Amino acid sequence: MERLCWAAGLLMWTLLRIVTPSEGDTEVLCVLMESCILPCSFQSSGDDVIHWIKIAGELRVHSFYNRQNQFAHQNQHFRGRTSLFQDQISRGNASLLLTGVEVQDQGRYKCFISTIRGNKDSFINLKVDASVSKVSIDQVGNRITCSSNWIYPEPELTWSTSPPSNMSLQNTTTVQQTEQQLYNISSSLILSDSDTDLIYSCTVRTRTSSRRATWRQISVISASSSESTIPCSASNTSLTSFSLLWRFNHTQTIVDQTRTNVTFAVSEEWRQHVKAVSESGSLTLQDLSSKQEGVYTCELSNSEETHLTDILLRIEKGGNTTVKAIVTAVLISLLLSVLMAVLVHNRKETKDINVNLHLTGSDNN
Ligand SMILES: *[C@@H]1O[C@H](CO)[C@@H](O)[C@H](O)[C@H]1NC(C)=O
Ligand SMILES: *[C@@H]1O[C@H](CO)[C@@H](O)[C@H](O)[C@H]1NC(C)=O
Ligand SMILES: *[C@@H]1O[C@H](CO)[C@@H](O)[C@H](O)[C@H]1NC(C)=O
Ligand SMILES: *[C@@H]1O[C@H](CO)[C@@H](O)[C@H](O)[C@H]1NC(C)=O
Ligand SMILES: *[C@@H]1O[C@H](CO)[C@@H](O)[C@H](O)[C@H]1NC(C)=O
Ligand SMILES: *[C@@H]1O[C@H](CO)[C@@H](O)[C@H](O)[C@H]1NC(C)=O
Repeated sequence: MERLCWAAGLLMWTLLRIVTPSEGDTEVLCVLMESCILPCSFQSSGDDVIHWIKIAGELRVHSFYNRQNQFAHQNQHFRGRTSLFQDQISRGNASLLLTGVEVQDQGRYKCFISTIRGNKDSFINLKVDASVSKVSIDQVGNRITCSSNWIYPEPELTWSTSPPSNMSLQNTTTVQQTEQQLYNISSSLILSDSDTDLIYSCTVRTRTSSRRATWRQISVISASSSESTIPCSASNTSLTSFSLLWRFNHTQTIVDQTRTNVTFAVSEEWRQHVKAVSESGSLTLQDLSSKQEGVYTCELSNSEETHLTDILLRIEKGGNTTVKAIVTAVLISLLLSVLMAVLVHNRKETKDINVNLHLTGSDNN
């Protein structure tokens, strides 16, 4: 029965194709892993036959006739992933719901309808999109690496600096394709010593999405061991639209505020050191020792951008610098006066000895 319908349908389709001018394909952009509707409408007349076919390979995607779904000849790639809006078929809605969209689903589809009135087919061009979700940027030694994963179609990666610089810097970009045909992209820059004060920016872009990550380094901040504030200096923008993350030495999480308007979560091991986090993202630390010396990373991110600032923190031993300086100055001047006194005294003594010698000499005469 099914085969008969199929054959009859195909014959009718071939005949009608000459008569009915074919309309242009409908473009449908589907998001990877999500559900997608392939539209198809017709004039129902009761006992309708619907076949969804993927043109490449003539794959049977979904069939419906005798008032029910027919899965006997369904291609296994589509098993369990297709359905029609059954309550709406009688109203002429033959749209296909495809779940868990994969890159392999890309291509042209045909919606073939056969009713008492005749046959009709329409074509859908399905395109898959996996947008750039996160761009990571990090630094090891003099190399900064920017990367982003699970993208489709193939993305484009560009570097820039602020203020603009020559960018004669060597960049190496590699693109890899995963088993799911998604793209991983990664690019490295070698920093030269003369380019330290720049903000490095990396943009990963596809036809529908674009994300940017920036990185900058603040060479050294000297902190007093009692209390110290580290600025999150990229926070030119209002922090309310960003989530904030403070890390230590690239690995330990200090403060995490992943959702806006949620109190800052301070990690257990840093609780005794974190005094406050300001509205601009600055981190105030207390009770510091040399164990807290290292790289502090402030990461601000929202749906479009990620800003990373690395701050090298050095802890001053023994409190306040000005006091130390005064003490040192006083000590030095004291030492100098003692030395002077000793010198003057010594000279006097030598003179005295000479005089004595002279006197004794004259006595001898
Ligand atoms: C068919 O029905 C679904 C579910 O209500 C709807 O989303 C879709 O737009 C309809 N399609 C057409 C072509 O009417
Ligand atoms: C990276 O290097 C290539 C050549 O090696 C160059 O064409 C490209 O513009 C560079 N990308 C940048 C500066 O973003
Ligand atoms: C950029 O490079 C060119 C040639 O390589 C050089 O003449 C120029 O001075 C450079 N400009 C800057 C701002 O470094
Ligand atoms: C692409 O990135 C994902 C996520 O980080 C990783 O698991 C996978 O191994 C990468 N694949 C290739 C081919 O690089
Ligand atoms: C800071 O803000 C000013 C004005 O809003 C803007 O022109 C500038 O590009 C911003 N700087 C950064 C680093 O975002
Ligand atoms: C953090 O990094 C600095 C510099 O790389 C290193 O000297 C220090 O030992 C590290 N601290 C910890 C606690 O890992």
